Amino acid sequence: MLREVLRIGSRRSFSYKSVRRPNLAAVKDNGNANTEQKPMPSAQPNGDLTKQLRAKMLATGPITVAEYMREVLTNPNAGYYMHRDVFGREGDFITSPEISQIFGELVGIWLINEWQKLGSPSPFQFVELGPGRGTLARDVLKVLTKFKLGAEFSMHLVEISPFLSKAQAQRFCYKHETLPEDSQLPYYQQGTTATGTNAYWHRRLEDVPPGFSLVLAHEFFDALPVHKLQLVDGNWQEVLIDVESASQSTDFRYVISKAQTPVARLFKPVPGETRSCLEYALETERHVGLLAKRLEQQGGISLIMDYGHFGDKTDTFRGFKQHALHEPLLAPGSADLTADVDFKHMKHVAETSGHIQCFGPVQQGEFLERMQGAARLEQLLANALPENQELIRSGYEMLTAADKMGSRFKFLAMFPGVLAEHLKKYPVAGFTE
Ligand SMILES: C[S@@+](CC[C@H](N)C(=O)[O-])C[C@H]1O[C@@H](n2cnc3c(N)ncnc32)[C@H](O)[C@@H]1O
Repeated sequence: MLREVLRIGSRRSFSYKSVRRPNLAAVKDNGNANTEQKPMPSAQPNGDLTKQLRAKMLATGPITVAEYMREVLTNPNAGYYMHRDVFGREGDFITSPEISQIFGELVGIWLINEWQKLGSPSPFQFVELGPGRGTLARDVLKVLTKFKLGAEFSMHLVEISPFLSKAQAQRFCYKHETLPEDSQLPYYQQGTTATGTNAYWHRRLEDVPPGFSLVLAHEFFDALPVHKLQLVDGNWQEVLIDVESASQSTDFRYVISKAQTPVARLFKPVPGETRSCLEYALETERHVGLLAKRLEQQGGISLIMDYGHFGDKTDTFRGFKQHALHEPLLAPGSADLTADVDFKHMKHVAETSGHIQCFGPVQQGEFLERMQGAARLEQLLANALPENQELIRSGYEMLTAADKMGSRFKFLAMFPGVLAEHLKKYPVAGFTE
């Protein structure tokens, strides 16, 4: 039976028209630290996921790029993020909070400063989407603990990976426990920090309880699945992924959908769109919509930090492995998959799904400089051992220099629209508009 499905499947798959993508090796500005233009690594066997994806395509046809990305990153058994630490020099990429403590400290100071300007609403929730190793949350927690001025707050981490949620708890909790599978509670893990703050881990943003929230997302949105759309004869058609014939060097290939897919039909371009092919992050749209409603109805502030563009890039879907670019259709599950965040789309969604005022995006280097990063650097250097000084200095340089992470990474802030007049009087720190 399975063989019959495979036979029918392979006959069917070759009737789709292949689509070519730009040569990834030609992509220069890749958005992650310490990435070099090394030759692409050869395929590593990651049999299970490749087999599973192939079987699915053979049985039911090509899948969307978004479904491929979701499976590769978060498949419960073999997903890239689900069962290991992929960060740092030993891993596949390094993120800003991991490079220097100055990053998390300044983000924490920004949050507490904006919160105080709103009259220090208490209690509040500190929410982080996709906290990775928990380094940013730990550094922000230190600042909140130092300056919270008697306010009560709880921590809410939205994390899909069971492995990373444990790593996060170990980073800033003195005790934590995982709840039984059949628990009806909206969190699956809970813990307590050394200073007595309660921390809760949720699988979805929807599960974070209502309440005034300070929300951070650092390199979260670039990990959410994107659909690839292309204008064909005036209609948006979706680029799909299908099995490749045995003679080719990758397991999969891109094909163009024969009929309009549901997502292509649903897609509404941002007014003024001029591109004829683009990446559409439906999951990002959903998260930003939820966030906008939450801020509008419950109050709060959100800071989104990621690499991205302002609605002008077309093809940014790529893989990273051991700090080098990796062909995304090769050895799925063995490398990170990512796509640039479209800040124009994000801003449009926030402003149309809730009454939200957005600030930015501004470049990371500018934000950190305006938040007095240079002064904090001098302070740290003055107290550091001579042998550590170069590392501290080069870390800050990596975060802020325009040719490193300073211009590629951007910050977007969201506030409830009712605060527009207040924010004119007391401008948002780190932003110009
Ligand atoms: C690129 S990492 C960034 C980690 C961290 N914020 C940092 O900058 O070091 C993406 C994070 O988002 C999590 N993640 C990815 N997809 C997710 C989803 N759909 N829901 C919740 N978390 C997700 C990953 O497990 C990981 O913690």
